[in-house]
Amino acid sequence: MKIIIVGATGTMGMHLTNAFEKEHEIIRVASKGGDIEADITSTESIENMFKQVGTFDALISTAGPTYVGTWKNLTDKEFRKGVEGKMMGQINLVLIGQHYINPKGSFTLITGALTHDPQKNFANASAVNGAVEGFVRAAAIELENGIRINAVSPTVIENSPHYFPYFPGDIPVTMQQLEYGFRKSIFGANTGQVIKPY
Ligand SMILES: NC(=O)c1ccc[n+]([C@@H]2O[C@H](COP(=O)([O-])OP(=O)(O)OC[C@H]3O[C@@H](n4cnc5c(N)ncnc54)[C@H](OP(=O)(O)O)[C@@H]3O)[C@@H](O)[C@H]2O)c1
Repeated sequence: MKIIIVGATGTMGMHLTNAFEKEHEIIRVASKGGDIEADITSTESIENMFKQVGTFDALISTAGPTYVGTWKNLTDKEFRKGVEGKMMGQINLVLIGQHYINPKGSFTLITGALTHDPQKNFANASAVNGAVEGFVRAAAIELENGIRINAVSPTVIENSPHYFPYFPGDIPVTMQQLEYGFRKSIFGANTGQVIKPY
């Protein structure tokens, strides 16, 4: 399969690239570095990325910038980091990417347990995760040619120990559990699902 990983230089993206590159052609995308540089907050940049890639079989997104910080500093300006990044960035990957993806291809977006299990400092992620999950359910009944779409929703992950103090009581999701959540979406048959890899 030809698989695009948007966010390939990050914590999740590097693990998924290593896991899938033995058996698949991987196109690594990030705003800096990667095989192709693209900024998901720009529709023009997304369109350019797909033009360079051409057709593909699966797109994984682990690019979901949000504002992390105290409630007292959360204003319209900070909130838009998640709206334009994790929410519209990922939604536009699908809205534009549907014109380049092969029949029976798949999109897998990233959300997170914060949708239903909020923690302090992460209101922006909680809100935009919910929007992305709603979009995934809606897109699943609209996409044509057998194209599937799912979201993977982990809690804090094993390779992000700097976040552990923000998630008291959560057992970190292992990188293998995370990887298998993505495997279920890409290589399985489900669509419109929010996959919890724990
Ligand atoms: N880490 C966790 O414990 C955890 C748990 C649950 C959910 N999540 C969610 O999972 C996602 C990924 O987490 P992570 O820890 O892997 O993040 P990360 O290490 O910060 O990696 C983010 C990746 O996305 C890329 N990226 C960021 N903004 C972009 C943009 N505007 N355009 C294109 N690429 C962009 C980054 O590359 P550049 O900087 O070069 O653009 C990088 O490759 C986030 O949405 C996060 O909320 C994380």
